[in-house]
Amino acid sequence: MDNEFYKNEIARLKKEKNAVILGHYYQRDEIQDLSDYIGDSLALAQKAQQCDNDIIVFCGVHFMAETAKILNPSRKVLLPDLTASCSLAESCPGADFARFKAEHPDHMVISYVNCTAEIKAMSDLICTSGNAEKLVRSLPEEQKIIFAPDKNLGGYINSVTGRNMLLWDGVCMVHDAMRAETVMQLKMQHPDAAVIAHPECNSALLQVADFVGSTKAMLSYIEKSGHKKFIVATETGILYEMKKNNPDKEFITVSAKEGCNCADCSYMKQNTLEKLYLCMRDETPEIELSNEIIEAAARPIVRMLEMSKQLGIIK
Ligand code: 13P
Ligand code: SF4
Repeated sequence: MDNEFYKNEIARLKKEKNAVILGHYYQRDEIQDLSDYIGDSLALAQKAQQCDNDIIVFCGVHFMAETAKILNPSRKVLLPDLTASCSLAESCPGADFARFKAEHPDHMVISYVNCTAEIKAMSDLICTSGNAEKLVRSLPEEQKIIFAPDKNLGGYINSVTGRNMLLWDGVCMVHDAMRAETVMQLKMQHPDAAVIAHPECNSALLQVADFVGSTKAMLSYIEKSGHKKFIVATETGILYEMKKNNPDKEFITVSAKEGCNCADCSYMKQNTLEKLYLCMRDETPEIELSNEIIEAAARPIVRMLEMSKQLGIIK
């Protein structure tokens, strides 16, 4: 089948089944084109909460689709490839985390949204890279905090807020593999470029960045910045939106692999047009969670969305 067939069929099925397609910026270009909304984890969680479609088709990774299901338990949530995981979510198994939490009973638990529903259910508050700093700043100084599962994002928040959160030892396999030395070499070749980085990058890289922020924050920074060139330390999929919005600007990727010029998240790229079409046609694979997990995981996610509204991060 060719791409035209899939595109037409996906559009037809979307109407016929009253489905909405939510897509993350790291998805393949052709999937971003077919999405009703594209955004970062925070915007997509909010969209998932607001939409009233019968079916939510989530083009992203498993934890994102789970979040949509937790916020919409009565709706069908489909993920084109159920094995589209995330190295951060995998770094934090439920039983190990439960033990860690029990060792620190006086700490509250803030979990980055890149974790399983089981971890969310053990958390007091969820955050995304788009709201983590402001959420942490809004808590009393003396509050003891466990931050899981991303030690890079947690370390970055510690460094900008002066907190001393206890960090779970997880990393994103894509962002953590990018090297500050690579960025410095690119900077020598392009001295007029601004370095923008996702906070999942390691601390050495973040120290040489001109701007650190979520996918959406990086997009906003580019639009407002006077720079014409950007060294981009995040997953390659976002370049599609960056180039579309800024045809007059130049983007240079930071490699996450020896001998290649790319930083693709293999999990994000598991979703293809064919899988998207098949999952909409057959209404499977579907995200399924127990009522107990949904109830417990919804609390810290809803708390995040409410706090984000109060703090003016989202409308
Ligand atoms: P954002 O919330 O910034 O879109 O990040 C999600 C993600 O998985 C980054 O690797
Ligand atoms: Fe997870 Fe990293 Fe892929 Fe984002 S880019 S989904 S954090 S593995």
